[in-house]
Amino acid sequence: MQKKINSWLITQVDKGTQTDYLELDSGEFLSNEIIIEVKNSALNYKDALAITGMAPIIRKFPLIPGIDFSGVVIQSKNKKFGEGDRVFATGLGLGELQHGGLSSHASTDADILIKLPNKYTHSYIMGLGTAGLTAMLAVLALHENSIKPDAGKVLVTGSSGAVGGIATKLLLKLGYEVVAMTSRPEYNRDYLKSFGNIEVLDTDDFLGNPRMLSKERWASAIDVVGGKVLENIITETNRSGVISVCGQVLGLNIVTNLAPFILRGVRLIGIDSAFCSHERRSRAWDMIFDLLDVKDVNYLSEIIDIKDVYERSKLIVNGKNRRRIITNNSN
Ligand SMILES: NC(=O)c1ccc[n+]([C@@H]2O[C@H](COP(=O)([O-])OP(=O)(O)OC[C@H]3O[C@@H](n4cnc5c(N)ncnc54)[C@H](OP(=O)(O)O)[C@@H]3O)[C@@H](O)[C@H]2O)c1
Repeated sequence: MQKKINSWLITQVDKGTQTDYLELDSGEFLSNEIIIEVKNSALNYKDALAITGMAPIIRKFPLIPGIDFSGVVIQSKNKKFGEGDRVFATGLGLGELQHGGLSSHASTDADILIKLPNKYTHSYIMGLGTAGLTAMLAVLALHENSIKPDAGKVLVTGSSGAVGGIATKLLLKLGYEVVAMTSRPEYNRDYLKSFGNIEVLDTDDFLGNPRMLSKERWASAIDVVGGKVLENIITETNRSGVISVCGQVLGLNIVTNLAPFILRGVRLIGIDSAFCSHERRSRAWDMIFDLLDVKDVNYLSEIIDIKDVYERSKLIVNGKNRRRIITNNSN
């Protein structure tokens, strides 16, 4: 094992954080039972919040960020994995509670790793990663709660982003009628229309104060932005409709009323990709592998150099990003 690794590192300074791309001692940062040479990682919204210090994501300093990675095992003290195995990981505390994947190398215990099927590349799996798993879990929640493709319109918010884009594609593949909401319709309309036959709406039209109940519009919704947008969607959801609640780009707090729930039976289903059960993850991965091929994932993602992570994080937290961002970690 080489003595030095190249990594992003977040340290605590005064009351804030500082993020740098550094050469680190491998002995100090790779102390778990398996060491992986990381080929690709990704830049999730959560990573961007951590890297820019916009939200308290990191629970232990200093920490290597990155909630996803894919790479090759180069050392293992666990029989489950051997040298040369291709593996990937998402969530489960990576980049929050333990060192993550925005690095040339990562180190974890065996229970965090999944073997990467031979037919998939590291960039394919990172084109999905946490965003793909979240999108699939959100779609699965509709399916499991009797929202079938003929139920009516499904609204997807933040649709040009990673979770929203992948969810839009998955819904279309399954035959749902999709309405894509975007905060930058002029910039994103053609991109979103290229996914298939979908209607595109402007987020601005969902930022007013909602009424107690509004005209029913949505059989279901997959929401990544939260805040005022979610408040409005709740009041416009059809009887027995389901909303998969995934994100909080516009804020964690909502103010709502009980009428949509007790008069229409609207259901909010929380989606947690980071710590959902092993069985549920496996089911979601099997479904997503069936539904999205390499061409789909290439279209929904962009590869950047790992050194550009800080600049791209600023764009993400300012709502100026599009597609899923994969990082190339090999120097
Ligand atoms: N529950 C989970 O397990 C889980 C997993 C992954 C992510 N998430 C959460 O899901 C959310 C999205 O994550 P992501 O990785 O998809 O991020 P992303 O790729 O940056 O996408 C977020 C999208 O939200 C929209 N947006 C950004 N700023 C906005 C603003 N000010 N007003 C309205 N819309 C705005 C943008 O889409 P448009 O330009 O199309 O509006 C943007 O592309 C985040 O809150 C993230 O933490 C949750």
